[in-house]
Amino acid sequence: MSISRDSFHSRIGFVLSAAGSAIGLGNIWGFPTNAANNGGGAFLFVYLVVTLLLALPALFAEIYIGNQAQKNPVSALGEACANRMPRVGRTVGKIGLCGAIMMLSFYTIVAGWMLAHALSAISELAGLAELSAWLSSDSTVRNIIFTPVFILLGAAIVHQGVHGGIEKWSARLMPLLLVMLIGLIVYILQQEGAGQGLAVYLIPDFSQVTDPKLVISAMGQAFFSLSIGVGGMMVYGSYMQKDKDLGKLVLSIGVLDTMIAFLAGLLIIPALFVAQHAGHEIFNNEELIGEGQLIFQILPALFNSMGTVGLIVAAGFFSLLSIAALTSTISSTEVPVSYLVEEKALSRRKATWLVSFIVLCSSMLLVAFFDTLFGLVIRVLTTIFQPLSCLFYFFVVGWIWNRGNKLTDKSVLDKNIYLKLWGNYLRFVCPVLLTIVFINVAFIA
Ligand code: PHE
Repeated sequence: MSISRDSFHSRIGFVLSAAGSAIGLGNIWGFPTNAANNGGGAFLFVYLVVTLLLALPALFAEIYIGNQAQKNPVSALGEACANRMPRVGRTVGKIGLCGAIMMLSFYTIVAGWMLAHALSAISELAGLAELSAWLSSDSTVRNIIFTPVFILLGAAIVHQGVHGGIEKWSARLMPLLLVMLIGLIVYILQQEGAGQGLAVYLIPDFSQVTDPKLVISAMGQAFFSLSIGVGGMMVYGSYMQKDKDLGKLVLSIGVLDTMIAFLAGLLIIPALFVAQHAGHEIFNNEELIGEGQLIFQILPALFNSMGTVGLIVAAGFFSLLSIAALTSTISSTEVPVSYLVEEKALSRRKATWLVSFIVLCSSMLLVAFFDTLFGLVIRVLTTIFQPLSCLFYFFVVGWIWNRGNKLTDKSVLDKNIYLKLWGNYLRFVCPVLLTIVFINVAFIA
């Protein structure tokens, strides 16, 4: 079947789109919340180590598989496993589609909160105080309205295709997000109480770094933040021409993503302590209160302390976050869409609407059973699903896939010592490291 595939028009287009996928709520909402819940500095330390040793190699493996195959994740994994176990490859690819839907089911809810907070600041500026108060307070009705709105926005972009939609939108406004984050950090660090937060965030208590709960959270967070294990990066890799320098591209995506997460921590953790200093209760038994919702009370309090300017900053900040969430949403949506277009011969339009409808149903299920499902789905996805997918990618790249894979081709490896070292690292070290973390998980349970 020869469908001409849409693609990124340049390597920089690919890097920015992949960074757009990586940078999102995971960085600005997930990372600081997780860090605050797991000892601050110790979490940051383990997060950086895990990113370097495991998450970046996994990102490489995922993008490499997609880039070589130039096909959607189901076919790409099927082809990579063709000579040993094609069925297994395709099945894992299809399970990956479910992972993408799972990710979208909670992600679109949180993104809806961002959207509502952006509109809340705008309506306050317009003098609509009552509407603004409703928009900024958590409610099921708000979820029922804003989650679908967000899903529709994502669908509208995916529907336009890779070059026209994804590449154009991704990362356009990211430099602005960076500038805003830095500005806010400068502001918060001048407030009382910030110093204590800074110390908690930057000075690791090394006695905590081997805590299995911390390690597994840091690993889940790193995989989530780099968008690994659901096929989003694989499909983006497949939209780029085959490239010899994948390693460098992967590194730049990792650096951009980690930098934004680090900066978000530098803003939010001191902001939590500033709020505590001002008399807000933020911890309950060392856990942040309110299933990840706390920063939606802390950040508006921070913006309020700036007066009217704060409202403009709030509108800008939450709008940029919504856009960052949008560029992540479209990469996940693209996973099932690419499969339906390439393998089930659906038009892009139909595939996009079908996938968006499935996402809508699953997110509404989470809204309906929020207390039971929301945290559970996040935990299962990030600490079980994504790491297991990565383990599979390591096995594929290191052991199963022969034809066309320079990492298992002896004649290529014998000539290039670096490639050989890298291949062996992915083959032996990564699966072992991941397995060790899993054994630890068994001990926590
Ligand atoms: N990496 C994105 C974030 O940090 C989330 C994501 C996960 C996107 C998996 C695509 C796939 O917000």
